[in-house]
Amino acid sequence: MKHLLKLGDLSKNEIFSILNLADQLKYERKKGVKKDYLAGKTLGMIFQKSSTRTRVSFEVGMGELGGRALFLSNRDLQIGRGEPVQDTARVLSRYLDGIMIRTFEQKEVEDLAKYGSIPVINGLTDYCHPCQVLADLMTIRERKGSFEGLKMTFVGDGNNMANSLMVGAIKMGMSFAIACPNGYQPDPELVAWARENGDFTMTDDVLEACKDADVIYTDVWASMGQEEEKKIREQAFAGYQVNDRALSVAKHDCMVLHCLPAHRGEEITAEVFEAHADEIFEEAENRLHAQKAVLVKLLK
Ligand code: CP
Ligand code: NVA
Repeated sequence: MKHLLKLGDLSKNEIFSILNLADQLKYERKKGVKKDYLAGKTLGMIFQKSSTRTRVSFEVGMGELGGRALFLSNRDLQIGRGEPVQDTARVLSRYLDGIMIRTFEQKEVEDLAKYGSIPVINGLTDYCHPCQVLADLMTIRERKGSFEGLKMTFVGDGNNMANSLMVGAIKMGMSFAIACPNGYQPDPELVAWARENGDFTMTDDVLEACKDADVIYTDVWASMGQEEEKKIREQAFAGYQVNDRALSVAKHDCMVLHCLPAHRGEEITAEVFEAHADEIFEEAENRLHAQKAVLVKLLK
């Protein structure tokens, strides 16, 4: 494993290996054990979009591993003024040991890896969010013990989260159902891959998708960069909500996960959110542990 550009690049064994190391690092942190796996290493973090969890967990994670992280905002970098990614990649490769990037186009992340000579980690693009899904898988395994035979349901926009979740779930042996309105389906190539490689259903019916679910996942109706579509999306997604009704057809011990930030009253009700807050905030914490594992695997 040289980079983390998208989940599809990782084998099931590689994912297990990251999750196992993440569990170990979480345990060590709880026990107060500090190991400087990345002493002297520097991670550059390029952000072309906002972030709370990704920024803080990567920065704290590097510190806890004995390294350091540089926050590089689009507003300050020359990349924000049009310097080509090919040049940025070759320059940063001479200073840094790894780059985490959050941006719009997946191609930019792929180009950074192609032209640079250091590991690149995708911290979210319009296409996918692999770091989030590693933390999600970690949280599911903590609570359910294993993945085999579980059903994961995604309710809402077939966006970056849906794209990564379906790949992660199917790779790990879960079945995956998505309920989304027409015109908001996930990436068609990934849908074809999921149909071929696992138990995948796509419907516009929330209750059908949530039936017998072990994990229900949702995300915002309008992602970063789609602010202007907010009104249209509110209409398109009305009814695509994780609420008591959706939960009533799921398994009695169904988990609810959300990558956050959450919009109560839109994709999830305040009641369901609060009833599952333990799971959702454990999931957010696990970003730290899962990413530390990725950093150790790539940068050590
Ligand atoms: N879930 C997630 O990636 O959160 P941030 O946008 O706050 O980083
Ligand atoms: N789909 C959301 C995820 C945020 C973590 C977005 O891209 O804004």
